[in-house]
Amino acid sequence: MKQTWTHTTERYRYATRADFPAFDELLSDPEVGRWLWFTPLPPDGVAQFFGPLVDRQLEQLANGERPLTAVIVVEDEHGGFLGQGAVVEVPMSPNGFEIGFQLMQRAWGRGVGTRLGQFLCAYAIEYGGAFRIEGECVEGNAGSAALLTKLGLRLEGTRPAYRLKEETRHTALFFGNEVERLDTAAFGAVAEHAGMR
Ligand SMILES: CC(C)(COP(=O)(O)OP(=O)(O)OC[C@H]1O[C@@H](n2cnc3c(N)ncnc32)[C@H](O)[C@@H]1OP(=O)(O)O)[C@@H](O)C(=O)NCCC(=O)NCCS
Repeated sequence: MKQTWTHTTERYRYATRADFPAFDELLSDPEVGRWLWFTPLPPDGVAQFFGPLVDRQLEQLANGERPLTAVIVVEDEHGGFLGQGAVVEVPMSPNGFEIGFQLMQRAWGRGVGTRLGQFLCAYAIEYGGAFRIEGECVEGNAGSAALLTKLGLRLEGTRPAYRLKEETRHTALFFGNEVERLDTAAFGAVAEHAGMR
């Protein structure tokens, strides 16, 4: 089963526990975490949060099953860590998937996020038969809101004071769209290029 993909200059692969030191470095950067409601993480936070997810995907891969909830590492062409993204099955939303992403500061502003977002959408569509794709950020996270919008997701709703970060309550912005309303040609091209088909 295919487990690594290349899309233009980036490479994507399933995360393992060996990636946790890099996740720690990524998520402990205050600029990266500035708008993330779940940071700063407690000392063992990366293992607590990502451990069960990567263990499950490893188990599924070992059984020949395609993980539909997947934690993905994005690297440059030399294997340098650029960040991580995730596709998560949304409970009680049949064929609904949530996407999320965090990149090292050195990767910002040159399209890595756009390509990762396209990859995650293509993953949900090609492997999961996605009907809906959604993403969430807190109000003020202009980069995330811009990227989700660029992928074709629309602001569907807000929940005031929904997220608590360092004693401040933030409004959560919920973006989403039905796949048939998205520019699936762009995701199809990624799927083709990355060898998902
Ligand atoms: C959000 C993030 C993934 C964007 O990645 P990126 O590689 O810089 O994004 P891209 O270069 O592909 O840019 C995508 C679009 O967003 C816009 N954008 C990116 N950062 C922006 C910012 N801080 N403010 C406003 N717009 C921004 C870009 O201009 C581009 O739009 P355009 O093509 O119309 O010009 C990255 O900034 C990041 O990891 N941030 C910290 C973690 C985070 O907030 N993750 C999201 C959690 S919900």
